[in-house]
Formats: sequence, structure tokens, C-alpha cells
Amino acid sequence: MNSIRTQIVNELKEADGKNVSGEYLGEKLGISRTMICKYIKKLREDGYEISSSPKKGYCLKSVPKLMYPEEISSGLETTLFGRNIIYYEEAGSSNDIAKSIAADSEEGTIVVVEQQTGGRGRLGRSWSSPKGGITFSIILKPKIALGAASRLTLMTGLCVANVMRAYGLNARIKWPNDVLIDGDKICGILTEVEAEIDTVKFVVIGIGINANISLRDMPEEMRENTTTIRDHLGCSIDRVDFLKKLLYEMEQQYIRFSTVPFTEILSDIVALSDTIGRSLKVVTPNRIIEGKAVGISQSGALLIRKEDGEIEEIIAGRCTYSRSWKIRPAESRTGIPDPEISDREMLCFPDDRLSLNPWWPGCL
Ligand code: BTN
Repeated sequence: MNSIRTQIVNELKEADGKNVSGEYLGEKLGISRTMICKYIKKLREDGYEISSSPKKGYCLKSVPKLMYPEEISSGLETTLFGRNIIYYEEAGSSNDIAKSIAADSEEGTIVVVEQQTGGRGRLGRSWSSPKGGITFSIILKPKIALGAASRLTLMTGLCVANVMRAYGLNARIKWPNDVLIDGDKICGILTEVEAEIDTVKFVVIGIGINANISLRDMPEEMRENTTTIRDHLGCSIDRVDFLKKLLYEMEQQYIRFSTVPFTEILSDIVALSDTIGRSLKVVTPNRIIEGKAVGISQSGALLIRKEDGEIEEIIAGRCTYSRSWKIRPAESRTGIPDPEISDREMLCFPDDRLSLNPWWPGCL
């Protein structure tokens, strides 16, 4: 059930520029006209422009450019994702908040923050989240084993890239958790899992999108190889609208995730992969692996063919492209297969040499 505040905003929006009386609103929502008056006062303080006349009632003139829950809820086409919204104008990290409430929250709950003061990235790095970004975390409770959780990060990257592409942006996925535009990072994803033995209790996926931000709003040390939607499109976007589209896309892919073999989602991820075909280096806590990315395994691991021809499966690590990394390899730029990579490898599933997934149906 939407909050009273959301219901008032929805009623005013539905009136589409016409006046709505306090009496009507009070009766519809089961509260007094005095209470309606108080809600309207607060909405005005929060940036809603609402005119009022004693005889006609209230009329919504404009809404604030903030990601208020009532704005996100209005016209949201999901059934689960984003149905429960926690909102902060400023907070440390949305992932920290989401983790602290996850056990008692319903699946699909989101924590939206206008500005983070302690945004966290992968591998202990910090994440810059100035005002104007799209910064949120979602709580999921999938019935999966711990080892399958990294699939969700890849799936989320696919969702962000799909929505960005619908905005005309040439978004691609950099393994394991970035979305790039023309080689520059535009979105980072931080997945954190709470598990008991091997069973996932909850997953928090934090998404930070450089939306209506200019690079100069970011700390200097974070500007390199980074871009923003505003810089790319030359204009700001409606962040609420973007978030609603993203929540819808995420819910659709999550339904797919829970109902069809991951292979199907993986092939979409592969089609938008910026990483496959590249020479690169992956730094893990105990070693550095260099070679060419030739695929992504069923579990979401990167498959790297090393110089000696051996293929290694890398589950996690920091991935750095070697040489002219802004230019994608021939195959992914043109659709013409790179002769160095066999068709079988480009399909991006483990091949015979790996035997990583004994249950893999082998239907390539
Ligand atoms: C990375 O690229 O290293 C991941 C960055 C993830 C940033 C998002 S912003 C929302 C959520 N809250 C955080 O503190 N981090 C994630």
C-alpha cells in the first residue's frame, strides 16, 4: 500500500492539471482535511509546486527534480522491485543501509540516496556519488548457492546497459561489474552477499550511475577513464524515469534468472561484453593472470587464455585491459569473428578443456 503522501501526489497527478478538493482527497484517503492540508504543506516544502484556491482545491503545477519515493512509485510497472522504497537525501552508503535492514525487508526493497558521503566500490575502493547521480541498492533473496551470486552482478550490468542503450548510449559490459561507454566507466555495481554455509540469505546489489553529473563534480583522482550520461548526451535525463525503466528491466531479467537456464542471459551478456576478445591482466588477491579474455563461464567467471594456451577461469579480480584499451577488438566492433578466437570460445562457455560444469548440456 502506498503511503498517504504518495497517494496524494498520485491523485494530483491523475487530475492532470485540474483542481482536486481537500474534501475529495480527505474522503478518498480516509483522513481529515486538516491532515490533507498538513501533507500539502510538507510537499511544498519538499519542492512540489501546488497551487490552492479555497473553492476549487489543489492543483499540481510541478514536481521536484529529486528521486522521492512517490515519484518513483508513480507509474512504476514492476510488481516487486522498488515497491518498498527507503529514501535519503544524504547518507553514507546505500549498500550499508540495505544490508542493515535486509533480513527483515521484503525482496525488491530499494534504498535510494541522492548523495552518498561514504560510497563504497569493489576491493575496498571508494565511490564518488555527488548529487545528480542515480545511486541505489536493491535487496534480493534468490534461492541460489553462494557460487551463483556473481551471476547477479553480470545480470545487473546487462540491465543497466540495456536501459542505457534505450537512451541511445553505446553501453557495454566490462567484466565483472562495470558498464562503459566508449571505453569510459559510467556505472559501477557492488554486490554483497550474506550466506549461511552455502545458501544465500540475501544479496544487496548497489548501483551507482553517473547520470546528471559533470566530471568536474567528481574528485580529480576519480575522473580518469570515467564519463557521465550528461556529458555524453549533452543534456540531463529524467533520473526517476531512468530508475523506473531500470527496475522494470531488472525485474524482468530476475524472473528470467529464476526460471530459465542462465545460458540464455549469459548469451545476452556476451553480446554486450566489452571484455571478451581483449588482451588483459586480472589481479586477484594472490596472483596476476595475463592473457586474452575468451569467454565467461556459467558461474560468471572470466575465461582467460594465457600465452601457453591454457585457459584459466577467474572468479573475481581487478581487470585491466592491455594496450589501446579504448579500441575494442575486431570481433566486437564489427561482428566479424576475430580469427584468433574460435567460434566455440566466442560463445563464451567453458570448452572441453575446462570441464568446469559437469552438468553443462554441451549443446553448443
Ligand atoms: C565499483 O565500481 O567498484 C562499484 C561501485 C558501486 C557503487 C554503488 S553506489 C550505490 C551502492 N552504495 C555503495 O556504497 N556502493 C554502491
